[in-house]
Amino acid sequence: MGEPLLRQVAAPVERFDAQLDALVRDMHDTMRALNGAGLAAPQIGVGLRVVIFEVADNPRYPHLSPVPYTVLINPELTPLGSEQSEGWEGCLSVPGLRGLVPRYTHLRYRGVDLQGAPIDRTVQGFHARVVQHEVDHLDGILYPQRIVDLRNFGFEAALGTQMSPMPD
Ligand code: NI
Repeated sequence: MGEPLLRQVAAPVERFDAQLDALVRDMHDTMRALNGAGLAAPQIGVGLRVVIFEVADNPRYPHLSPVPYTVLINPELTPLGSEQSEGWEGCLSVPGLRGLVPRYTHLRYRGVDLQGAPIDRTVQGFHARVVQHEVDHLDGILYPQRIVDLRNFGFEAALGTQMSPMPD
């Protein structure tokens, strides 16, 4: 947080080449090493519209249903309905902190994968939350900007049991 790149709008991917493969490999390794649920390219210093996410037996999110490993390029989000849910979020670019953030509960997202093949999914709950969090990174938005009441923002260690399980 504070890095200028994290406040910028990232550029669409136009070339599906070896450089893009290498970027996604770096993102994957970074996310795995830090036990993140997702990562966006600007978080490792690349201003391209690429996000990855995965929830599979993640020790940071032990109570959540799995989300398959996904590489999502040039994403487009369409909220389905106006319903929002609040959930506690963290971010590898804002280490040690958590905040309560409203997100659309039901979401359709589209984009392409690393091979350029279309992705079109309708999801809800934590899956929808992760995608909205990651795509925010591509628009220069970090989750603290989405917190409605800043009393619901603090250090993970201090918040402890005050954080209710994320609705999913
Ligand atoms: Ni993040």
